[in-house]
Amino acid sequence: MKILVMTAHPDLGKSRVNRAWFDALTESNAVTTRDLTAIGGREMRFDIEAEQELLLAHDRIVFQFPFYWYSAPPVMKAWMDQVLSYGFAYGPGGDKLKGRELLILVSTGGPEHSYHAGGYNSFTMSEFLKPYQQTANLAGMTYLRPFVIHGMALADDDQIEASVPEMLAHLTDPELDPRVKQARLLKELENDPAKAAAIS
Ligand SMILES: Cc1cc2nc3c(=O)[nH]c(=O)nc-3n(C[C@H](O)[C@H](O)[C@H](O)COP(=O)(O)O)c2cc1C
Repeated sequence: MKILVMTAHPDLGKSRVNRAWFDALTESNAVTTRDLTAIGGREMRFDIEAEQELLLAHDRIVFQFPFYWYSAPPVMKAWMDQVLSYGFAYGPGGDKLKGRELLILVSTGGPEHSYHAGGYNSFTMSEFLKPYQQTANLAGMTYLRPFVIHGMALADDDQIEASVPEMLAHLTDPELDPRVKQARLLKELENDPAKAAAIS
């Protein structure tokens, strides 16, 4: 499985958690990383054909960003507006991303308990991330369970360090799509009639 990570942080030099993730991902052989701020420059302009070619060469597309005002930093949106174009990601002939996976990798300043009904952020991350889920739907992609780390406003270095292997395991899990996992489990049951009989 080929994994492409689009990192949308306005200043990775000042970042703590996204920088740690970006560095670990860049070192990993399994992943291609892209610092969108460095690539797009001040104008946030992208070489659309080159970006689309990269997408076509990968199976799992990851959007990585710090949560800013309940959304992503603007460079993520600039990239999406330019690259996920009519005839490529949607509209007539716009099925080029069909069958690929989309995974969101996000850090928040607020704690986990704030992202619930009744918490001070009122809504869950699943709710806040719905525009990405629907982007995947429209493009015919499979929207995977996001990786979210909370409480970064008060996180110490140990917490950030500990998040790295957890994030890598999630990102590279070949069975994040529950249908893939289910197919394997079914196959295992087919090969083990005694177990199948026991649970039926
Ligand atoms: C402009 C701005 C907006 C932010 N908005 C939110 C927000 O809506 N919710 C939240 O939990 N944290 C928010 N934060 C905190 C960031 O999510 C947090 O600092 C970031 O995840 C830490 O990642 P980093 O170390 O890679 O910069 C915001 C921070 C900035 C600078």
